[in-house]
Amino acid sequence: MEEFKGQPRLPKFAVPKRYDIRLTPDLTSCKFGGSVAIDVDVVGDTKFIVLNAADLTINNRSVSFTNKVSSKALEPTKVELVEADEILVLEFAETLPTGMGVLAIGFEGVLNDKMKGFYRSSYEHNGEKKNMAVTQFEPADARRCFPCWDEPACKATFKITLDVPSELVALSNMPVIDEKVDGNMKTVSYQESPIMSTYLVAVVIGLFDYVEDHTSDGIKVRVYCQVGKANQGKFALNVAVKTLELYKEYFAVPYSLPKLDMIAIPDFAAGAMENYGLVTYRETALLYDDQHSAAANKQRVATVVAHELAHQWFGNLVTMEWWTHLWLNEGFATWVSYLAADSLFPEWKIWTQFLDECTEGLRLDGLAESHPIEVEVNHTGEIDEIFDAISYRKGASVIRMLQSYLGAECFQRSLASYIKKYACSNAKTEDLWAALEEGSGEPVNKLMNSWTKQKGYPVISVKVKEEKLELEQSQFLSSGSPGDGQWIVPITLCCGSYDVCKNFLLYNKSDSFDIKELLGCSISKEGDNGGWIKLNVNQTGFYRVKYDKDLAARLGYAIEMKQLSETDRFGILDDHFALCMARQQTLTSLLTLMASYSEETEYTVLSNLITISYKIGRIAADARPELLDYLKQFFISLFQKSAEKLGWDSKPGESHLDALLRGEIFTALALLGHKETLNEASKRFHAFLADRTTPLLPPDIRKAAYVAVMQKVSASDRSGYESLLRVYRETDLSQEKTRILSSLASCPDVNIVLEVLNFLLSSEVRSQDAVYGLAVSIEGRETAWKWLKDNWDHISKTWGSGFLITRFISSIVSPFASYEKVREVEEFFSSRCKPYIARTLRQSIERVQINAKWVESIRNEGHLAEAVKELAYRKY
Ligand code: BES
Ligand code: ZN
Repeated sequence: MEEFKGQPRLPKFAVPKRYDIRLTPDLTSCKFGGSVAIDVDVVGDTKFIVLNAADLTINNRSVSFTNKVSSKALEPTKVELVEADEILVLEFAETLPTGMGVLAIGFEGVLNDKMKGFYRSSYEHNGEKKNMAVTQFEPADARRCFPCWDEPACKATFKITLDVPSELVALSNMPVIDEKVDGNMKTVSYQESPIMSTYLVAVVIGLFDYVEDHTSDGIKVRVYCQVGKANQGKFALNVAVKTLELYKEYFAVPYSLPKLDMIAIPDFAAGAMENYGLVTYRETALLYDDQHSAAANKQRVATVVAHELAHQWFGNLVTMEWWTHLWLNEGFATWVSYLAADSLFPEWKIWTQFLDECTEGLRLDGLAESHPIEVEVNHTGEIDEIFDAISYRKGASVIRMLQSYLGAECFQRSLASYIKKYACSNAKTEDLWAALEEGSGEPVNKLMNSWTKQKGYPVISVKVKEEKLELEQSQFLSSGSPGDGQWIVPITLCCGSYDVCKNFLLYNKSDSFDIKELLGCSISKEGDNGGWIKLNVNQTGFYRVKYDKDLAARLGYAIEMKQLSETDRFGILDDHFALCMARQQTLTSLLTLMASYSEETEYTVLSNLITISYKIGRIAADARPELLDYLKQFFISLFQKSAEKLGWDSKPGESHLDALLRGEIFTALALLGHKETLNEASKRFHAFLADRTTPLLPPDIRKAAYVAVMQKVSASDRSGYESLLRVYRETDLSQEKTRILSSLASCPDVNIVLEVLNFLLSSEVRSQDAVYGLAVSIEGRETAWKWLKDNWDHISKTWGSGFLITRFISSIVSPFASYEKVREVEEFFSSRCKPYIARTLRQSIERVQINAKWVESIRNEGHLAEAVKELAYRKY
């Protein structure tokens, strides 16, 4: 029996084929009873059956194994639940007959409050607090609801039956086939599912309203919401119907179940979960309120729905073989969600916003403590942490890179054949590459292995020397240290115009090309309009580019002359920022480059300019506090023009992107302490306090107003804070609550920051939402760290069993910039590290080290002061 302990995967001498599950939850006592009968195929000679179970009480006398041919029932001689390994080991007196048999088990459990397994969520109905019962099984918590082979490759069919109070709505993956009412209770049974993985099984029981529609081929789609709020589900419903139709075309396979339900859950750890046929969401990711939701909320709902529905094919129909291939699920769904959003809402220019995904991927993967896309998983506790920017954002980015290399049409065709080949089965990363290789004739496997099997990415240094273009790749690390990775890089470049382009694979460490031969033209003399070269055209590649001085100057000029696309303007800025942080460019040169964006009007570019200015402001506060006011003045002048053009009030018929930009620009101006913004915000906030439907504070600018209000709050003038808390308490819209939570800690007063942090731990903030409140002002950084230490026991008890806990560490630790803090953090966690926070902790500490080095180099940068002052006083 010992041989089964401490193993990452279950032994496979018996494999499940069909589960017949019955669950009886009690929403008052928060307990549940259950029984499962599993059809298993015994394929090896064994006296043991080993499956997963955790936090369940097994009714030992209920356990039996019956061979289907002989009908002989065997009872185990020993039943052991090994909690450390989350396995249930059944030992029988004799070797089990091979072939099909039925394993029956009765059990009991608790509807927990940890947002995983079979859990409870609370809501109000007619002023009364009620519980609902919800499941969240990914990655490995189905075992907390019923004993099962809880691995993605162990697919089986599921037949589910629920005993619930008769007035409640009870949903599962499949449609109801039978419902029997018996007094106050009813027994609901559902159609048997097609074969699927355990992590996609779902059940939800509570009071709900819904809106309904259907696709052109008759699939019934519903959105379930809080009672009385069905209207808020209409937007998502519409997106879902159109997206299902789109994916049917794109994947060349129809949606595989007869119905699709989507439901908003008040307590939910992730953003959403793609359970087959019953997708669960946070309220903020599903509900859209005409009056109180912002454009950003609308976009979030659309992309989350598109992402989860993509999983119905990529993930549910074709499932990763093991968690090492999680990125196939998440990277792909992320990429496809952009495809869908672009098709449904072309005016959102969503592919330009994809650059945010790419940048965040590059940011995490620039750490030595990053990990390869295909990551080894040896322990269940390690799975949660890989739902990170590498699996999602780098994953999506390398898919995009490959798609643009192979061409959209060839890519789609090969993908469709992959889906067809692996439908109702499991696949590994190399299976996808094989399909794409077959469809394209390109060396996809070799090319992509260099991106998915090693961590990191290259920076390509570009030089022009005597009519020769010289390229050299080396691993980019934010720490500035050299790395030893090497990649096959799909290089794209254009010269002087987007009509003169070239694509090729860079296999070697370096290469040089005759420009005339390569491009059919020579690059003109400096100052001449056409004389620029841009690599990574439109930023479809997952790498950075470092230009020599001459080429960089030419690009700066091309930006001012408005010759570059917005995606390229974004990329040049982003690469320069990353290189500056890695101390390969000076801050002076970065600021000078930023000044060439003074005429910028595009949302994505400005949004990145804002993010970068926040980061510079924070590092300067440590490195050169005497320059902070000049820097702020410079940033204000960069944003002011757009702010004036946009104004506080939305214009009739204006674009979605203007609405997004308005919110971010005024938030930035508020954080920079821009006087007029602070005053105007305060005026509008007061109008809002008097009337929550005032046209003076529409949802798109509320966050800006809230942040502005918090800039003026102090221990002696708490009125703005108290008013915001009042709005928080009065609203029943989750998006409004998170908007407020994410503004509160931006207050510069440390006493208020401490109050805010304590508020996050109070019963007024759902534990799913506390992490929104961790965006702490630079002044509050030290307070937050002390608070984290003081409350660590409580925090790790409350959030310690899910991935939200990592956000406490990364948000609070990463903003520091000294070696002293590195030592402090290391010391504090030396006795408190657990497998599920280990990676995040190492990454956060590395960030502090990188910041510390950056501070040193900025301190030593000559001429910075003159440059900053000149930029601050310049007329734009
Ligand atoms: N499969 C995930 C949900 C999930 C995340 C389960 C982490 C277990 C652990 C789901 O498809 C997902 O990716 N949700 C995202 C939203 C998406 C739009 C990026 C999320 O939860 O943030
Ligand atoms: Zn996903």
